[in-house]
Amino acid sequence: MKKLIKNGTIVTAADTFTGDVAIENGIITEIGLNLKADGAEIIDASGCYVFPGGVDPHTHLDMPFGGTVTADDFETGTIAAAYGGTTTVIDFCLTSKGLPLQQAVNTWHEKSQDKAVIDYGFHLMVSELNDTVLAELPQIIENEGITSLKVFMAYKNVLQADDGTLFKTLQAAKQEGALVMVHAENGDVIDYLVTKALAEGNTDPIYHALTRPAELEGEATGRAAYLTELTDSQLYVVHVTCAEAAWKIEEARKKGLRVYGETCPQYLVLDQTALEKPNFEGAKYVWSPPLREQWNQDVLWKSLWNGSLQTIGSDQCSFNFKGQKELGLGDFSKIPNGGPTIEDRFTILYSEGVEKGRISLNKFVDIISTSSAKLFGLFPQKGTIAVGSDADIVIFDPAVQRTLSAETHHMNVDYNAFEGFEVKGEPVSVLSRGDFVIRNKQFVGKPGSGKYLRRKRFGAAPVLPAKAEVSGGVV
Ligand code: URP
Ligand code: ZN
Ligand code: ZN
Repeated sequence: MKKLIKNGTIVTAADTFTGDVAIENGIITEIGLNLKADGAEIIDASGCYVFPGGVDPHTHLDMPFGGTVTADDFETGTIAAAYGGTTTVIDFCLTSKGLPLQQAVNTWHEKSQDKAVIDYGFHLMVSELNDTVLAELPQIIENEGITSLKVFMAYKNVLQADDGTLFKTLQAAKQEGALVMVHAENGDVIDYLVTKALAEGNTDPIYHALTRPAELEGEATGRAAYLTELTDSQLYVVHVTCAEAAWKIEEARKKGLRVYGETCPQYLVLDQTALEKPNFEGAKYVWSPPLREQWNQDVLWKSLWNGSLQTIGSDQCSFNFKGQKELGLGDFSKIPNGGPTIEDRFTILYSEGVEKGRISLNKFVDIISTSSAKLFGLFPQKGTIAVGSDADIVIFDPAVQRTLSAETHHMNVDYNAFEGFEVKGEPVSVLSRGDFVIRNKQFVGKPGSGKYLRRKRFGAAPVLPAKAEVSGGVV
């Protein structure tokens, strides 16, 4: 069935114009003025923006972590993502030392394939890089199209890898055309500070932030950038929270290094004082790295605007307050780290960014969609509105005023990190490869309709995939 989106204001990372978008077989076939209908279903987008669907480069769905499992799986998480205007997620596939990488990837396929309602890909965690892993890695990159590798520099004795592993991963990534992602915090020093705080009887959620100072994020970011320089490789720093880290990325980029950075909605609008909320409510705001002093928010917005940071990831990693966050009652180090953000990422960036004059409309599209598609080998299939691209489209009403709340959100979790936030704008309808997932603010998608995305290697030419190469078959 053909569709024709008429009279909207089409916005890409480069242009803003009034026009129509024609869709057939899941692909954008024509963009222009007064396009003819010819039996197509007409979708009226008058008064709305027509954006490319959001690409969220950082999610943790159905992930075991902190002694529990995230509250949102690939079904609830991607439904909430779609409500929020996101049509692609790239989730982190965790690996275990001593086990084949393929086994971990298979587990992630099992978690996702009958559940996702939008398209998805995986990043692969690297926790060790011995000869066995080194031998398997090229096959995973080639066969699975997993072209980004994640190294944790923190979470000692759980996920943390040592500097040698990071260095070897950067070398392998250079050779294979993969992008190395780091959680940049100095895990060894944090471990010492946490042990000391607990021994001194400091057990409240605020000590989570106080034992993970910004200097330790800046130090790890700088260390990773130097190792990237030494290996002539490429690096993407996830969830940048503070000036210390943003400035290290800026410095590396000024040197001409291929170093990129992501921040998250929570670091743009929340601050460290949230961890001081009474009745253990501060636990709702425990992320690693932690929320920072408020002045850092301005540095992050400016870094997005000037291009030092390129993307916004949700870092969706939801845990219920009741029964999950509560695992850390009496010991902040046992609070599962992470929060529910997948649904509000898009609107927070629009409302706090565009509406408040911090970023332009085109920059918004770049940050929410295009840059991630480019960095992670999906552009121009994803991340833009162009002839030949997937018809992943958000029809967004900028006039709506609403209040974010757990009472109205669609994430499978008992609180909203942005509870009470007054925002402007709302996705009205969302299409994934030409099919409505959200129609007039109602979910009309189907679990399992999301397709797994094999991604191009870092630096590969941005061409559309041949029809036969599109995962899941011919489109
Ligand atoms: O607190 C966070 N960020 N939880 C998710 C895991 C991670 O470090 O990204
Ligand atoms: Zn992390
Ligand atoms: Zn994360």
